[in-house]
Amino acid sequence: MDIDDLLGRMSLAEKIGQLNHPNIGGADTTGAGPASAHLEARIRAGEIGSLAAGAPLPWLAELQRIAVAQSPHGIPLFFTLDVIHGHRTIFPLPLALACAFDADLVARTARAAAVEGAASGIMLAWAPMLDVSRDARWGRCAESPGEDPYVGAVFARAMVDGYQQDDLTRADTMMACAKHFAGYGFAEAGRDYNMADISPYRMHNVVLPPFKAAVDAGVGAVMVGFHNLAGIPCTAHRELLHDLLRERWGFDGLIVSDYTAIMELVHHGVAADEKEAAWLAFHAGVDIDLVGECYRRHLPALVAEGRIAERDIDAACRRVLRAKEKLGLFDNPYRGLDEEKRAAVTLTPAARALAREAAAKSCVLLKNDGALPLARDRRIALIGPLADSRANMQGTWAVAAKPEDSVTILEGFRAVFGTVLYAKGANIVDDPNIAARLNLFGETVTIDPPDTLLEEATTQARKADVIVACIGEAREHTGESATRSTLELPGSQRRLLEALVATGKPLVLVTMSGRPLALSWEDRHANAILHAWFGGSETGNAIADLLVGAANPSAKLAMSYPRDSGQCPMTYAEPPTGRPGDRIGLDVGGDSERDAQGRPVFRKFTTACRLEGPATPLYPFGHGLSYSAFAYGDVALDRSELDGEDAVLTASVTVRNDGAVAGEEIVQLYIGDPVASRSRPVRELKGFQKIALAPGESRQVSFRITAEDLRYCRADRLAAPEYVFEPGEFVIGIGGSSENLGTKRVVWRCDKR
Ligand code: BGC
Repeated sequence: MDIDDLLGRMSLAEKIGQLNHPNIGGADTTGAGPASAHLEARIRAGEIGSLAAGAPLPWLAELQRIAVAQSPHGIPLFFTLDVIHGHRTIFPLPLALACAFDADLVARTARAAAVEGAASGIMLAWAPMLDVSRDARWGRCAESPGEDPYVGAVFARAMVDGYQQDDLTRADTMMACAKHFAGYGFAEAGRDYNMADISPYRMHNVVLPPFKAAVDAGVGAVMVGFHNLAGIPCTAHRELLHDLLRERWGFDGLIVSDYTAIMELVHHGVAADEKEAAWLAFHAGVDIDLVGECYRRHLPALVAEGRIAERDIDAACRRVLRAKEKLGLFDNPYRGLDEEKRAAVTLTPAARALAREAAAKSCVLLKNDGALPLARDRRIALIGPLADSRANMQGTWAVAAKPEDSVTILEGFRAVFGTVLYAKGANIVDDPNIAARLNLFGETVTIDPPDTLLEEATTQARKADVIVACIGEAREHTGESATRSTLELPGSQRRLLEALVATGKPLVLVTMSGRPLALSWEDRHANAILHAWFGGSETGNAIADLLVGAANPSAKLAMSYPRDSGQCPMTYAEPPTGRPGDRIGLDVGGDSERDAQGRPVFRKFTTACRLEGPATPLYPFGHGLSYSAFAYGDVALDRSELDGEDAVLTASVTVRNDGAVAGEEIVQLYIGDPVASRSRPVRELKGFQKIALAPGESRQVSFRITAEDLRYCRADRLAAPEYVFEPGEFVIGIGGSSENLGTKRVVWRCDKR
């Protein structure tokens, strides 16, 4: 396809049509009614370049036929959808999957999602979501890879690879779209859509690395955040989109607005009307207007008035046409629009097996006093509002899933234990207004009389050897526009737990949510806690596998768990303060971790709780237990001094499985830079390795460290990052969690010769 020749033959209106991605939902989704006739007429007129794939395949095929056979230049449409953690087969939430610390697993789930999604006509998926999230109140942390930029970057590469492979013309691939560029996860107070006032320093060191990784991996599209970034909504942010993403990073794919975000510039208070909004977004660098139709309505006049040059419209249109070419649409416009093929690749046994594996590898064992694993001959009371829930297991953003596809925990337990004593025990929420809001998203949150539920639960619990309580949030407690101000268990679930504790029986909690919860009370009272997030289609089987020991927990937290909601936002990688021990007075440094010589190494969490107990997280980033017991030897460095930016340091540790069962451990490498020209985080994750050890087996794990790992960005302006290596002393830490590290110091010089 000669794109420039095609472009030369198109009218201005047609070129603008390619930038228009309207809402298919305005048409009736059967494809039969008058609204669909209207949509078809618009495609025929060349007004539309892309559409959501949320409609029956035969109708999508018919829309494509109209575009190809009847629109002025026969340019095919591309179809889009949110494929966030699986398409019809649902895998764990992205935040959960990140806890597996397993790029290969992430890539395999993305591959399986692409096979199913592409066979449902989806050519561009609105994923991966790469917003570093440090505030558990923010409902969209569920969609993210968590709090850490390094984990985010690993996740980004794996997702892009799984979706796109290296040839997008293959009919089993989808173009990926990194979102939401950038800093959306730092919405103030975790309130969705809120302003994020982020310095260029934090942008480059924390927010942007996952996006940069996606761009370097060849991601086809980038979606712009809804929010206002330090005063300028991202949709109108030329320095962010044009100067940094386009020019500095050289990204030549599609830049897409979020849903109606261009017209929302009026609500943001930076545009007087939609025409100004269209100008701002286009000038900033947004190619495609998602749903708002401001471009279609206003770009023609803006070109006529000379405020936008037609060659800039050409450039945006060329990028859309190139994307279509990359997808092979000019040769095969009907890719993925075949109902029979879709049925053959959907919800296959292999995809289900992968979902079961992924769910088991994503659950984090937060606490275990030995109550787990459970012997198969125990009488189990399975209690709680999530024990027999189907739709909830899929988590937020599972748009193509059907509730009947998922396995409940009760079903998983019955398959393992035979008879199980069951009771709902409590409502997820007791407030009918909140239940109605949760139900809006297609789940069933029923409200029963709490006292009756409690009585049934205690009756069942008394008959059992051990209680397993499945408690937490509903799936739509997280996701878009789902902020919470408290992270405790909703509704009367705590009351249920108090009653269960009072029975004196061993109590195992299976907690579920799309965010870290504040579980201090639960930690004090339960014998074991497995955090299961929302595991997708095979949740019930995976949890049963773990609880009975058929699978061994191996996941580690990708987001810290606070002791109390008021600690949010929080991260293991916070910068030090002037008073590390949170003391007023002279004993500064009192609570730092010290090495054998008594010198401070990694400082402990510093933010204040002077009157209320520890400021540390309840469960830190990187924490996660196993049924095995991993013992770490001392950290060894192959040298204690290095010279030059080309030097290489090897840090090693020996890990031994002292437990009775085989297991996997995620060995983590952290680096701290105690003295630099900017105050650096107390420690930052710089590598991890997942190793499998049989009982009694030990293995040496080595990390190769280069000056690249010590570099950071000293940006004063967003589009002018300056990456620096500052010689000096560094602390190298290796261990099984961000708070449980063996450390060694190294001096890295860079003597000018
Ligand atoms: C969300 C995006 C999503 C888009 C299309 C928006 O509301 O912010 O993440 O991709 O809708 O569904």
